[in-house]
Amino acid sequence: TTYKVGYFVGSLATASINRMLSEALIRLAPPELELVEIPIKELPLYSYDYDADYPVEGRALKDAIASVDAVLFVTPEYNRSIPGGLKNAIDWASRPPGNNSFARKPSAVIGASPGRLGTAIAQQHLRSVLSYCNSPQMNAPEAYIRFKPGLFTDAGEVTDDSTARFLQHFMEEFRTFIVRVLTVLPPQRL
Ligand code: FNR
Repeated sequence: TTYKVGYFVGSLATASINRMLSEALIRLAPPELELVEIPIKELPLYSYDYDADYPVEGRALKDAIASVDAVLFVTPEYNRSIPGGLKNAIDWASRPPGNNSFARKPSAVIGASPGRLGTAIAQQHLRSVLSYCNSPQMNAPEAYIRFKPGLFTDAGEVTDDSTARFLQHFMEEFRTFIVRVLTVLPPQRL
């Protein structure tokens, strides 16, 4: 069986190292996982004024999440938390009330930073948010990727063998987790 995984890149920067990481993950994922990006860049800033009539960007986001079996967050750490753009996207997807797109949707979190902590603190914040949103999260392996220039080629290859093996393992574990969650919690089809 193949599974669709929608991935979020938490950075809006054109030269994002987390976008590079997402490209590496696509290459290293098992063939059963089909990765599709869920873009967040065009979303307006969320307010509940929109709840009565979601704009096209908000509906596209919710449709994109509904169309995948699981979601993967590839995010930087900005000021020891997740970037505002990513939080904004999560807020959009969690609403309107009673229509939370993350409920029962399996998720995993990964991120890269040049700093020693490798986005660990941002990931803890993101895990709190996803818990509140009732998304079953893969607890382990954790993946705090310390970025050094040259870690990824322009084509999205990982130049360091142990990192490549780890990322491959991470994606294989995510596949196993998705299978397990969907067996216990089959998606509600309306
Ligand atoms: C950072 N950076 C950073 N790094 C980190 O490890 N912990 C942090 O709290 C922060 N804070 C922070 C705030 C802001 C506003 C910026 C722009 C950057 C550095 C960050 O890891 C680095 O810029 C990465 O390149 C960000 O990932 P993307 O956006 O390139 O994917």
